[in-house]
Amino acid sequence: MCGIVGYIGKEQAAPVLLDGLDKLEYRGYDSAGIAVFDGEKIQSAKARGRLKVLRELTHGGEKLPGNCGIGHTRWATHGIPSDKNAHPHFNESESIAVVHNGIIENYLKLKNHLIEKGYKFTSDTDTEVVAHLLDYYYKGDPLEAVVRMMHRVEGSYALGILFRDHPGKLYAVRKDSPLITGTSKTGNLIASDVPAILKYTRDVYFIQNEEIACLEEDSIHFYNIDGEPIEKEAVTIQWDVSAAEKAGYEHFMLKEIYEQPKAVLDTLNPRIRDGKIEIDELGMSDDEIKKIKKIYIVACGSAYHTGVTAKYVFEGMARIPVEVDLASEFRYRDPILDEDTLLIVVSQSGETADTLAALREAKARNVRTLGIVNVVGSSIAREADNVMYTWAGPEIAVATTKAYSTQLIAEYLLAMKFAQVRGTVTQQEIDEMVEALKQLPGQIELLLDHKEKIQRFANRYIAARDIFFIGRGIDYAISLEGSLKLKEISYIHSEAYAAGELKHGTISLIEEGTLVAAVLTQEDLYKKMISNMVEVKTRGAFLLAVTNMGNTEVEKAADYVIYIPKTHKYFTNSLAVIPLQLFGYYVALGKGCDVDKPRNLAKSVTVE
Ligand code: M6R
Repeated sequence: MCGIVGYIGKEQAAPVLLDGLDKLEYRGYDSAGIAVFDGEKIQSAKARGRLKVLRELTHGGEKLPGNCGIGHTRWATHGIPSDKNAHPHFNESESIAVVHNGIIENYLKLKNHLIEKGYKFTSDTDTEVVAHLLDYYYKGDPLEAVVRMMHRVEGSYALGILFRDHPGKLYAVRKDSPLITGTSKTGNLIASDVPAILKYTRDVYFIQNEEIACLEEDSIHFYNIDGEPIEKEAVTIQWDVSAAEKAGYEHFMLKEIYEQPKAVLDTLNPRIRDGKIEIDELGMSDDEIKKIKKIYIVACGSAYHTGVTAKYVFEGMARIPVEVDLASEFRYRDPILDEDTLLIVVSQSGETADTLAALREAKARNVRTLGIVNVVGSSIAREADNVMYTWAGPEIAVATTKAYSTQLIAEYLLAMKFAQVRGTVTQQEIDEMVEALKQLPGQIELLLDHKEKIQRFANRYIAARDIFFIGRGIDYAISLEGSLKLKEISYIHSEAYAAGELKHGTISLIEEGTLVAAVLTQEDLYKKMISNMVEVKTRGAFLLAVTNMGNTEVEKAADYVIYIPKTHKYFTNSLAVIPLQLFGYYVALGKGCDVDKPRNLAKSVTVE
């Protein structure tokens, strides 16, 4: 989605803004722009397409003098991607400049109202309404105009605002769209996401909902929605710059695939003590855990897929019924929730609009909530009753890999904790599972060592039209993820099916040479899977199998086999996902796709 960066200080602002926008490219965008204030006039440059166009247009920022500015990468919602719709947007006299993330839901009503008052609009965006509305309310006091604007607009927004009448000040405002401020040696910054300013500072303030920040060169003041001053404490970001850089890898996605052993270890380690599962941040007593009668796992995309895996694990291990739901469905379907329900929301960014809305819906109904979140201090992390962090570090590639893997780990640990407390597993079983978990990082490394084998295979499929992924039980869950990974970055149509369901319609799509990737890691389902594989093979499919080491039987049916090391039956997805991620990556690479920034996609989906 869109990205925001802002700077006020001793340095020339434009290069700092371009540099910050560069770090936000991963969020997905279709145009970019900056506005810089030199104390007299606010000058801007905007361009459709990649940031390099904007860089060229401004000679790397040189053409825009001034020490205060705002920048934006836009992911179109209202109005097509174009120069005119790119941010910043201005009032008519160009004395107020605005960059915006989010959606102003009542923008049409406000726009009509402003048009009646004589305002002229030059773009199709909802954002332009904010610039004119600020102009309408501005009577000499910017804070007052901002406050009045906030009381009128509905929807979500993170805003960076410049007022020409007030040199030396940069305003930042947020509601339901992330925004942070940071202090550096040469000045102060705003950003929608940490990587944009990490080069300059690790000391940040999280602007909360309906709060305002006023930045000057050497100070930041915060206000509530009534314009009253409030105090805030700085938080030190633990990542360093290298965590958000490619470090020699061709793509962030590949780097993040390779970071999985560490990410898994970092998520596991603090929660295994003396062979026991200890999740301090769970905030639930043993009695409370015993009382839970139903769990909902609610999320979007890959995070949802980890929920599908977790359903099998929780139900099998802890014997608690689990419903997994897409957040966009859950929030509107009036789910049956009561005091014995636990709602788990899973999100890398912690800002996904539908997941956040589902969380709020559950909270409004007094249901206990737990967030499994990667981004520290994000909205979901702050609003859930309790938060269990996945320690994946910053994930930049749009296609999630290491966050997915750590979400699985968090869910396994939770299921084990619940099973331990509810007495549905023995200590010996827990011990065996702990041992298996500890081996996962090394086993993932082993799989990564054989990436060339997958690359060779992937190269044969860069021209494929359709690819199917099939599996049963937990292997169905990994098929969903394998299929999404492939299609989101390679643009090859792909579907995941519960293997037994294929013959109820979809098998008619199998033609001579269609690739079917079959995942079979569950011993009790091997035979059933082989039957399903033979069904598609006799109809011409080419069969790739992902299975456990030692299951050589599969070679009778499959054309190509990838073996994964043996692990506990509940944890196989953590290993099977590695070749599937690599397969998606290498197919996309072979096709020449923009792996880290696939078309139409955004890293953090902050709109409905
Ligand atoms: O930040 P979140 O985990 O809430 O994001 C959820 C999905 O948007 C995300 O997993 C998406 O499906 C990824 N692009 C998949 O690789």
